Amino acid sequence: ATERTALFMFFGGTGDLAYRKLYPSLFNLYRKGSLRTHFAVIGTSRQTLDDDKFRAAVKKSLADSGNRADSKEASDFISHFYYQAHDVTDTAHYSVLKDAAEKLDKKYKLQGNRIFYLSMAPQFFGTIAQDLKTQGLMSKNKDAFNRLVIEKPFGRDFDSAKQLNDALSKSFKEEQIFRIDHYLGKEMIQNIEALRFGNTLVESLWNNRYIDNIQVTLSEKLGVEERASYYDNSGALRDMVQNHIMQIVSLLAMEQPVAFTDTDIRAEKVKALRSLRVYNVADAATNFVRGQYGSIDNQPDYRHEDNVPTDSTTETFVAGKLLFDNYRWSGTPFYVRTGKMLADKFTRVDVVFKRPLVDIFAFPQSQNTPLAANVLTIFVEPHAGFSLQLNAKTNDATFSTEPIKLDYLVDAEKSKETPEPYERLLHDVLKGDGTNFSSWPEVSYAWKFVDQIRRVWDLQAPNFPNYTPHSMGPAAAEELIQRDHREWVYRL
Ligand code: BG6
Repeated sequence: ATERTALFMFFGGTGDLAYRKLYPSLFNLYRKGSLRTHFAVIGTSRQTLDDDKFRAAVKKSLADSGNRADSKEASDFISHFYYQAHDVTDTAHYSVLKDAAEKLDKKYKLQGNRIFYLSMAPQFFGTIAQDLKTQGLMSKNKDAFNRLVIEKPFGRDFDSAKQLNDALSKSFKEEQIFRIDHYLGKEMIQNIEALRFGNTLVESLWNNRYIDNIQVTLSEKLGVEERASYYDNSGALRDMVQNHIMQIVSLLAMEQPVAFTDTDIRAEKVKALRSLRVYNVADAATNFVRGQYGSIDNQPDYRHEDNVPTDSTTETFVAGKLLFDNYRWSGTPFYVRTGKMLADKFTRVDVVFKRPLVDIFAFPQSQNTPLAANVLTIFVEPHAGFSLQLNAKTNDATFSTEPIKLDYLVDAEKSKETPEPYERLLHDVLKGDGTNFSSWPEVSYAWKFVDQIRRVWDLQAPNFPNYTPHSMGPAAAEELIQRDHREWVYRL
């Protein structure tokens, strides 16, 4: 791999995400040679720590993620880590970070390249970005890069997202801002583009003439766990639909980009999102349903989880229908659903094709069941692969047909080599490639769509809890699709 040169500054550097994902991902980049001698990491947070204690914590994080943390390679890597306690609201104190950055820049010959990574309470994102500029932390070297990586959530509605974006824009240009959506770092999400634009067989049928509907399911088995204080203020619509689901849907719906570059891909995703129908009140109420999990056995319902108010109306499940008003998709709905405490943990996309216009095998004397629809499934996680359901003749003397499947599943050995989303995304930031990040226009269209649903939901108190743990959500999610004379491809 090409060695990259940069200083990383992690705000929220002692946080869960940093230890669980970010540092182990950097270590992978180190092992593969994308990082070697010319990089340094400054971790910062309000905690009082010294370099040694911080390094010990980084070492533990490597071990916890399955690395041999006592190797020479690991200790060489960790020697690039430094710690600086800092209160992000203390503007005067940024000079300390600046001095530390300049010192490391000289020591490791970093050429002024800087990556600022914000992984902390979102209310500070704007302030930090502004202080980085006004307090002189951004490198002035004209050949160097300054990049801002920003974790979710990006606002809680369109207005707050715009405010945040305006604040960031005072210091960073759009091409310097990398808004993380870790689903875009997943192998099989990236594979959507290969599947579509690398295959005549697929892309020539990829429209409302041949596709009946597309279903996107992000199912989670766990409940809210320890994150209730965040989650209860967010809910599934903001937590999963506004970002991950909208990103997946835009990759499925977009037109072919002129070239495989971030600018071209973004342009097509934005165009797709612009033709997504933003619902009026009545349509939002019929086309989206919500749920909250109840109790089972000794397990508490959502309202009795730690840190959740007993009268919480936060949804832990969403299902909805999305409609694109454009030539490719008019009349072909996208059904989406996601929730906590469902039957299993998996992500998949099911593309349901139209049945043949005429079923010539259904002659009166035949015992034949009607032809099944062809279904192309993209398995995102936990298993990666594709499955294509076709109709074939049964292996006997009659003339019946039955659905058969062509399956391609990435085997377990190979899956182990698949880079983690954060490894990929950090590598993209080092390269300056924004393909797998959400651009501001995408984020803003997604919020405008989601805000309408939220608006309608906020008018009426839901009747919660309404689904049993380990099911696939409330009855309303079934009714939503049955009303259109369709069904979820994945059912229990
Ligand atoms: C996060 C959400 O963005 O995605 C979590 O905040 C959710 O609530 C998680 O659990 C799911 O990600 P993954 O990669 O485990 O499917």
